[in-house]
Amino acid sequence: PREDYQPLYKILESATAFYEQQLRNPKTKDRPISYFKGRGLSGQTAKQFRLGYAPQGWDNLISALGNSDAEVKNLIKAGLLIENEQGRRYDRFRDRVIFPIRDSRGRVIAFGGRVMGDDKPKYLNSPETPVFHKGKELYGLYEAKLASNKIRRFVIVEGYMDVIALAQFGIPYAVATLGTATSRDHIEKLFRSSDELIFCFDGDEAGRRAAWRALENALPTAKDGRQIKFLLLPEGEDPDTLVRKNGTDYFEGLLNECDTLSEYFYKHLGAEVDTRTMDGRARLASLAKPYLEQLPSGVLQQLMLKRLGEITELADIQLDPAPPREHPEAR
Ligand code: GTP
Ligand code: MN
Ligand code: MN
Ligand code: MN
Ligand code: MN
Repeated sequence: PREDYQPLYKILESATAFYEQQLRNPKTKDRPISYFKGRGLSGQTAKQFRLGYAPQGWDNLISALGNSDAEVKNLIKAGLLIENEQGRRYDRFRDRVIFPIRDSRGRVIAFGGRVMGDDKPKYLNSPETPVFHKGKELYGLYEAKLASNKIRRFVIVEGYMDVIALAQFGIPYAVATLGTATSRDHIEKLFRSSDELIFCFDGDEAGRRAAWRALENALPTAKDGRQIKFLLLPEGEDPDTLVRKNGTDYFEGLLNECDTLSEYFYKHLGAEVDTRTMDGRARLASLAKPYLEQLPSGVLQQLMLKRLGEITELADIQLDPAPPREHPEAR
């Protein structure tokens, strides 16, 4: 019989309420409130995302939520309490602002916690638990679904603060992966609610690498009729900094004009070869073909193959059939 996770959801909900209360508690609220204000967040946004604060100290959750054997067991199972080798138990999240992560039904399943200063690690996330699987969940998906009943498009960003800042600026359709690469599962999940995805990662080396990884995982999902796009941000910017600096219209303008999958694909590969030479064009073909083979057969695949033919000045390039995939993520 399937295990009952109700007690886990219940204790995660109680912890969320506890962290939220600390933003109202006169003893604890000053630093986290000024942190959020300093980042431009309104009280309404904080409420909408159920932001909170985990105070300093080692045993806040047990004191607030209960220390019976069953409660302690569930706190550990939910990833909120850590038990070390000596059997000592302590709160995972201490002196951090808290971002509750909800599943698509709105149940809190995990937390992200950020330091308010420069300590490391900057962010701490809940571990994998029976109700939290990082590779499947997307931060902000529930909030995006609440905001509109028909989602025209999703923007996939890197961070919690990107999702929240965009929402506050009237762009309520951003979601973030949780410190993991965008997986095929993430992409398929989003395509169940919308047929347009825009990947919009930070304007730095890590962000550019993440975008190409996302393209690799998106290729097999790129059925005709679906749109996959890429917005590469200016160096040093992320969606949070950019929308705060330049506003909603500017950011939506970028989203409306960004690269399609095929444009980004040939831009990126084209930058790695010298297409003025035959050898460079041959190299481009050898780089591009394994990717094109990953596309579902259809018009997009044919058009991208035709484009490869134009770039290489070769009329008839043949693709090999895609090798069978043992597992969607096996690469
Ligand atoms: P801010 O400084 O709050 O604006 O963070 P950011 O979201 O811009 O951070 P960054 O671009 O560095 O990271 C994007 C996302 O990666 C974060 O939202 C986290 O989910 C994750 N991340 C960043 N730093 C860490 C870290 O030190 N540990 C873990 N586990 N995840 C991190
Ligand atoms: Mn970054
Ligand atoms: Mn940021
Ligand atoms: Mn960032
Ligand atoms: Mn590259």
